[in-house]
This record gives sequence, structure tokens and C-alpha cells, in this order.
Amino acid sequence: MSDPIRERRLVGETLRRAADAAQRYLADIDQARVRQPGADAAAAGLDRIFPEQGDGALATIDALVGASDGALRASGPRFFHWVIGGDTPAALAADWLTSAWDQNAAAYDSTPIGTVCEELSLEWLKELFRLPASWGGVLTTGATMANFTALAAARTWWARRHGVDVDARGFAGLPAVPVLSSGYIHPSATKALAMLGIGRETVRRFARDDIGRIDLGAMEGALRELGGGPAIMVGNAGEVNAGDFDPIDAIADLAEKYDAWLHVDGAFGLFARATPKAAHLASGVERAHSVIADGHKWLNVPYDSGFAFVRDAALLAGAFAIGAAYLPKPGEHPMFGAMGPEASRRARGIAIWATLRAYGRKGYQEMVERHLDLAQHLARRVDEAPDLERLADAPLNIVCFRYRPKGAKADELDALNLRLGAELLADGRVYAGTTRYRGVVAFRPAIVNWRTMEADVDLLVDVVRELGTRLGAAAAV
Ligand SMILES: Cc1ncc(COP(=O)(O)O)c(C=O)c1O
Repeated sequence: MSDPIRERRLVGETLRRAADAAQRYLADIDQARVRQPGADAAAAGLDRIFPEQGDGALATIDALVGASDGALRASGPRFFHWVIGGDTPAALAADWLTSAWDQNAAAYDSTPIGTVCEELSLEWLKELFRLPASWGGVLTTGATMANFTALAAARTWWARRHGVDVDARGFAGLPAVPVLSSGYIHPSATKALAMLGIGRETVRRFARDDIGRIDLGAMEGALRELGGGPAIMVGNAGEVNAGDFDPIDAIADLAEKYDAWLHVDGAFGLFARATPKAAHLASGVERAHSVIADGHKWLNVPYDSGFAFVRDAALLAGAFAIGAAYLPKPGEHPMFGAMGPEASRRARGIAIWATLRAYGRKGYQEMVERHLDLAQHLARRVDEAPDLERLADAPLNIVCFRYRPKGAKADELDALNLRLGAELLADGRVYAGTTRYRGVVAFRPAIVNWRTMEADVDLLVDVVRELGTRLGAAAAV
């Protein structure tokens, strides 16, 4: 077999095989081990030699399906590591169509449906998060690129305040960009600052404690020292260790008083605004200049998906405008390929539009509220367990705790929890990783999957305790 032209008639059968395999994979995902015992072998067993002659799509899909143990059940209900959502039925099916249609979402001329889905997705997301309807936005590959996109707009704004078009001329002659945040700033935001030429180390973190909580007084002092010069502030709505929030309203007050751009990273925490039960945590985001979130986290659409909202969307043209005689121009519809880092781009709006249409504002509110309740349930289970110690409040969907059996020496707990973390991942029944919180090793499971129920959370607690007991018994031998 060579040239794919010979396979024209096989497209239907190839897709049917893939669909059957996907259904088998998903059929038991509610109970399946997140990490199959054969995961490494399956991934390692893929053909490694680039064939001179391929053996065609059917054999290749069969080979891939044969290696499906190499795929973590990351879209299942027992995956609590990092902050990784699943994919709702509507989003998954729409994402398949997105691939079949293979639309380039650069402009309306290259995809009417992709462009309109992106416009509607952005409008509906603004409604879900109660953001001003006048803001503009664009879909991105995820929160890192959304941070990059929004901070590029901030950079354009900041340089204009110095009378310079940084996107045309670069940084030459300009001072360092003052960037202020709390200790909660996510590494993806500092990565974005590095990519923008602002620099990772430019960020000044104003923290009043070892958790990273904001020191507003010190931040205001630094703004005052700038003497009224423009600055960029990064507020954090939902940090990864315990799901805590910077006080966005108070940072917005400072931004207004001192001529600063307020950017908010709400990769998952923006979803607090989807329910009146948690909206207060992210109050003030509507006063920011830009805010971002992920689609592939709490919205539960397949990778990759994120979005950036900017109050003055015209600023996106600074870094991202692109033009040539042969390229389309923005007309009645936005040209999204000229509003973000990618020119040719996947039509991510199709899956987002589909999931928002399928479940509506109420459906997302209910899902977020279920997850908030599950986090409280998990916190209670941790508090009741004599060998677990909760390390932080659980304001949102993350519960930070460690294993601490009676009699364990304080200076051995980090090593014990690191070992337990590795055992938990290798065991694979549930999946949750470790972090460092206030200087100690801790677990920080995050609940964002639409399938997760109480039994899944209970299993997490049971497995952590079971493996911990086993480790203790092995150490005593
Ligand atoms: C607060 C925050 N910001 C940004 C990111 C980066 O997101 P992504 O990996 O989708 O680029 C994450 C990811 O966990 C996050 O939690």
C-alpha cells in the first residue's frame, strides 16, 4: 500500500472501526483503571520504523486500537491529577465532525460554520461567566496561549502609554515592563511573559505568607514607586494547589488608581462565576482588562481548547494582525486568525458551541455546583480519616491534604507522601499527583470531570489510605 488515493473507498470503514473502538474504550470508563497495567508496554509497542510502504489505514487503526492501553483514562471520572477535564458527549461528537470537516478557522471565507461557532461560543461564554458583552475575544489552544494572547494586548497597551508601537518597532529604548502579581501566579503566565519578550523574571510577586497570598499593601507601595507609570498586573482566579483566589476586586481598585492593566488568569477558576454559590470568589473580573480560561478543563471539551477575552479587542491587532494580497480581510465577521497567535487554526468553536448548546447555562451551573459539593465531601472524608491531614481550605474544587499516619515522624512525611504519590500513579485505580504546599509534600486532587460522582471521590480516599497502610507495613518489616 502507498499513496492514500487508493483508500478513497475505505474512509467509511476506517471511521466505523475508529468509532467502534472509541465506544469500547468509553463503555467502561466509569470503572476502568485510569492507568492500565499495560500502559507502558502498549505505548512502547507502537511501530518505530518509518515504513517504506505503509500497510494502509485499516491495519494502522487496528494497530492503534491494539495499543489503546497506552491511553490513560484521562477523560474518566477518577482522574484527579493536575486540572484535566473530560469531554461531554456533545463536545466529543462535535470534535469528531470538526476533524471530518477539517475547517481552517482563520477567517469566514475559510469556514463560515467555524467562524460563526467561534463568535457564538465567545458570546455564550461571556454570558456564562457574566462578562461584559462589549468585550472581544478569541479561542486559543489552551490557557497558556490565552495568557500569551491577552498579555500581548497588555504589552501593546503598555508600550503605547510610552508612545511606542512595540509590535512594529520592538522593545528597543523602552524600560523593563513592570509586572506585578501575587505568589499565586501560574508558570504558564510567566512562560507567556518570556515568549512576549517581557521576561519571566520581570514579575514581582507580592505575597504576605508562604502560601503566596497577596500582599496588597506592598503591591500598592510598588505601584506608587512607579510614579504613575503604566504597569501590568496579573490576578489569579483559582490557583492550582488549593483552588484559592486573589481578591480581584481589590486588585481592580489598584489598577484603576494607578493606571495598570489588570489581566486575570482564570484557567479553571473563572467557572466559579457560573454559579451564584461561588461567584463571589471571582468578583471583580468584570472590571479587568483581560481574562482567560481553558476549554479543556472545566468546560469538558477535548484538547486543545482555551479562550482569551479582552476588553479592548482592537489591541489584539497589534501583535496578531496578518495581511497579504491573497489573504482574506476582516469583514462582517471577525478574522480570528488575525486576533491570536495562530493563522491557520482548528475550528475549536464547533465543540464549544455544541457543548454549550447541548447543556445550556443551567447544565454548566449544575455541573460546577456538583463538583463544589464533591470537593466538600472529599474535605470531610479527609477530616474524618485519622491518617489524613487537610492542609488548606477548599473554596472551590481542589482539596489539599497529605497522608499522616499516627506516630509518623514529621521529618519523614515528605518522603512518605512522595513514595505514596508514585504508588498511587502506578496503581492506576485513581489518579492524583503531589505538589508542595507551604513547604511540604501534599496531594491536591482537582474535581473537574463531568462524570465524577461521590463513589469516585470515596475511592480516591480509600485507595490513598490503603496504599499508605501498605507502605507503612512494608517499612515496618
Ligand atoms: C491557573 C492556570 N493557568 C494556566 C494554566 C495553563 O493551562 P494550559 O495547560 O491549558 O495551557 C493552568 C493549567 O493547569 C492553570 O491551572
